Amino acid sequence: MHRPPLAGGTAGPAALRPLLDIVLDALHQGAKTRGGPLPPGGPEAVAQRVHAAAPTLLPAHGTGAEEALTTLVRALAEGSADPAEPHCAAHLHTPPLALATAADLAAGALNPSLDSWDQAPAAATLEAHLTQTIAHEIWPHGGGALRTTGDALVTTGGTESNQLALLLAREHHGPVQIVCGAHTHHSIHRAAWLLGLPEPVVVPAPTGTTDLTALAVALAEPRPHPTLVVATAGTTDTGAIDPLPAIADLCTTHHAELHIDAAYGGPLLFSDRHRPQLAGLERAHTITLDLHKLGWQPVAAGLLAVADPTRLTPLGHRADYLNADDDTDAGLPDLLGRSLRTTRRPDALKIAVTLRALGRDGLAHLIDTVCDHATALAQLIDEQPQLELYEHPTISTVLFRPHGADDHTVAHIRRTLLTDGTAVLGRARADGRLWLKATLLNPHLTPHDLHTLLDTTLHATTAPPTEGTPR
Ligand SMILES: Cc1ncc(COP(=O)(O)O)c(C=O)c1O
Repeated sequence: MHRPPLAGGTAGPAALRPLLDIVLDALHQGAKTRGGPLPPGGPEAVAQRVHAAAPTLLPAHGTGAEEALTTLVRALAEGSADPAEPHCAAHLHTPPLALATAADLAAGALNPSLDSWDQAPAAATLEAHLTQTIAHEIWPHGGGALRTTGDALVTTGGTESNQLALLLAREHHGPVQIVCGAHTHHSIHRAAWLLGLPEPVVVPAPTGTTDLTALAVALAEPRPHPTLVVATAGTTDTGAIDPLPAIADLCTTHHAELHIDAAYGGPLLFSDRHRPQLAGLERAHTITLDLHKLGWQPVAAGLLAVADPTRLTPLGHRADYLNADDDTDAGLPDLLGRSLRTTRRPDALKIAVTLRALGRDGLAHLIDTVCDHATALAQLIDEQPQLELYEHPTISTVLFRPHGADDHTVAHIRRTLLTDGTAVLGRARADGRLWLKATLLNPHLTPHDLHTLLDTTLHATTAPPTEGTPR
């Protein structure tokens, strides 16, 4: 029986090369057949095409690498909502940089696992180097009251980072009462539930950011538990940034801890132009960052930065096969306390490659570019009498809707675009109304793309309904 070649070792690259050619051809063909931001026809049509391409996934006799890669990669590409397409702009769903994806291939080939040093000798060093770099970016003079150097953990994204932040606060203080704005990401509420914490106290965010007066009132109330305030730097719906210095001041006055969810806005740190929007970030105890959003990384590329590294102690854990005391005493790094996961991908590699390849100025250029696109789109909407702009963008998210449309119509337009396969826009509720959301993360957009995105939307506004529901 033929033994499929392995990806690693000295023979791995030669075995991979022809397979990569097949994958790249299939990606190209799939994207060409799709011919737009997502496949037309809606969920049933897409499911049918995928099943028709590969009716069985476990044949009695295998079809071989070439057939399986061609068929399934092509079906995936043909049926993808591809954020590299100019009109795919619904979510914080980034188009990955080719160089980051190439780096991820090396991670897949070598498969280091960051639960023990003997599975990831260089990857462990690289990860530590990266996390120190990120912490230094936030706290160049040291973090927290101790002014020690901060630290950071690599996570699977904003959800895991937020969970860990709440866990670390709970381990330090016992149960904590979370106080957060109404715009806070749902993962905070889930994490509170998961960790058995009291239901978060939610303060209003009528203009899209935490209302400071309401926060002050909430913090002044006597409570049985210490308080953890969660602020957001880059909300999911609008990209708004909470008034971080004022929130940090309130936390100081009321002896509350501060966690900032900067999953979206965190990378603004790399841009001289936009970094001032994050003033106050360094006053947080913990910070969620996520480079698979405004960082152009393939999933997953999350980080949790921690001002005081001693706060990570509760994550310490022994498993004799991974970090026996005598191994640790003999100098083998103990990695198990760097995550709640055991087997862990070296996501640090692609991030490190990106930071090094682009440098601060290269990253700043990408960030400034997508922010400029958002400003340009907002301006076009402002000038278009049939459309209403929610507000001028803070980062790269733009909300808009047809003038005079009701919420049902807005929702319907979004689904029409999805079903037609012409645009992927998101939806967001703001000021009590439903809006179309364009989250611009593609640095290659042209002014023409912005114009045609609006034209396509306007066309869907006037097109007869393709759904059974009345408009
Ligand atoms: C502000 C914010 N925090 C956290 C998350 C969760 O991130 P992830 O989906 O990577 O878990 C998101 C996702 O969009 C987000 O917008």
